[in-house]
Amino acid sequence: SSAIAQQASRFAFEQLAPQTDGTVHVPSGYTWDVLVRWGDPLFSDAPAFDPKTGIPTKGSDRVFGENTDGMELFHKRGTELLVVNSEYVNAKINLPAEQDGQPASADDVTRLQNFQGVTVMEVAEGENGWDVVFDSPYNRRIHHRTPMAIDGPAAGHDLLKTAADPTGTQSLGTFNNCGSGRTPWGTYLTCEENFNSYFGTTEELSLSDVHAAGFKRYGVSTKVDPGRYNYHGFDARFDISQNPNEPHRAGYIVEIDPWNPDATPVKHTALGRFKHENAAYALAPNGQVVVYMGDDERGEYMYKWVSRDVYVHGGDTSTLLSEGQLFVAKFNDDGTGTWLALTPEDTGMTEAEIAVFTRMAGTAVSATTMDRPEWIAVNPTAVEAYCCLTNNSRRGALDDDGNIRTNAAGEPMVPNAPNPRDVNRYGQIVRWRPHNDDHAASTFDWDLYVMAGNPEVYTDGLYAGTANINAGNMFNSPDGMQFDSTGLIWIQTDGDDDNEGDFLGMGNNQMLAGDPVTGEIRRFLTGPNGSEVTGLTWSADRRTMFVGIQHPSAPFPDGEGALPRSTIVTVKRADNALVG
Ligand code: FEO
Ligand code: CA
Ligand code: CA
Ligand code: CA
Repeated sequence: SSAIAQQASRFAFEQLAPQTDGTVHVPSGYTWDVLVRWGDPLFSDAPAFDPKTGIPTKGSDRVFGENTDGMELFHKRGTELLVVNSEYVNAKINLPAEQDGQPASADDVTRLQNFQGVTVMEVAEGENGWDVVFDSPYNRRIHHRTPMAIDGPAAGHDLLKTAADPTGTQSLGTFNNCGSGRTPWGTYLTCEENFNSYFGTTEELSLSDVHAAGFKRYGVSTKVDPGRYNYHGFDARFDISQNPNEPHRAGYIVEIDPWNPDATPVKHTALGRFKHENAAYALAPNGQVVVYMGDDERGEYMYKWVSRDVYVHGGDTSTLLSEGQLFVAKFNDDGTGTWLALTPEDTGMTEAEIAVFTRMAGTAVSATTMDRPEWIAVNPTAVEAYCCLTNNSRRGALDDDGNIRTNAAGEPMVPNAPNPRDVNRYGQIVRWRPHNDDHAASTFDWDLYVMAGNPEVYTDGLYAGTANINAGNMFNSPDGMQFDSTGLIWIQTDGDDDNEGDFLGMGNNQMLAGDPVTGEIRRFLTGPNGSEVTGLTWSADRRTMFVGIQHPSAPFPDGEGALPRSTIVTVKRADNALVG
């Protein structure tokens, strides 16, 4: 870019070149350090991490979980709590090699379950950087067996009742915790994404039509096989031949009070059941709480929750995620859009059915099929929000019979205005501005903030990307996203990192900063081979960024001969100036 553009830039760093190695890189003038790795102790009685075999089952709920993802920092009177999702487990590296990723006992299943869920941990900065505070009274692991309360329209409904919980209001565990969110009243939101993969069957099934349709739409396997994790082989709760309602108790937004280690997390069914990516809140001018949410699956939808009651600082917040209205997004070709209310009148479903089978409710009102909605972020300095549409290789592609491929509802995934590309390998970020500067409004204007692409491989056309993509800042598959307090948008990627063909010049997965006003995008950080960069939050003083490195294939961060470990790194300016 020209010298003038350089001067006009709001970025306080020079663009980092793409990288292809096994470690983390940041621009000159910045430093990074390891905060915590999968298996690091939260308590002084935790087992030691073995560089070849990891962590044994006993004590596996006393360490930092695997596959770090969404995270948020909370602070109060000088205490800082980092609350972090552990999305899934790499069973191949957590179980003996000869088992090839399959559990052989209930003990194996327990170990896998303990490495997932949510970690609450106190962190503090000392002379040698940031550390976890061992044995802090706030430290807590929430995993696949932690008691949860269920509220909202589906609570107590027959679809949620099981032999172990005939009330349908109390479940065990939160699953596949992907992106994060927070509330204005200081609680954490963890978002259940690919929950379907934890369920299976040990017998041929004879399912009700309702169960069969739901399992099909949500991808719960009805085949008699071990599946991805084979919990069902050792724990009947995950066997849908025994407990067909158990999958209806996952796929929600779950609220956690980080300041009370004894508080029971709450699954808020009012916010819908789908493959939740994250939950981004905004306050409407009148104080109603708005929560934007994406459903990360090819051809699924974007959603918005609007509370019935208003948020008042220090007031009653108990209804704000249970009483209100859920909407689904309809994008029009002319740059306008509508949030369609998911009501019994418009969907032909009861409130409880809308809460459990939210995807079907979206189909009933003809929502717009999207290219895998991942994180949504709300600009704190303008009334607008952004959603990463990470990629959709099946849009516009033909199936074996020569028909356009469909989503799980059978809707053909033809290109549409916000998802304009066939075989979309690069992804895009859609932005919307609610009418009347009111996030609770039912109409909005939208545009594409960026279409990722490769202008070196495709010199023109849609695969070159939009004008704010150039040879220097190429990336694919935007996924994680957060605004900083100054209104810069930070974009994290989870895409193809082979640096070949369509992806030549992009290098490893990365984090970039974007200026919402000028559209300028600049690479800031790169992850090690095989990793995705996901999860971003800031210390209370905004001098440290916490960045998640998930599923490296390189032996990061410990080096040759060690297991690869998902890791949270801290990033600071060498002069300790603000970083957002
Ligand atoms: Fe867990 Fe859609 O990312
Ligand atoms: Ca993601
Ligand atoms: Ca992703
Ligand atoms: Ca991931």
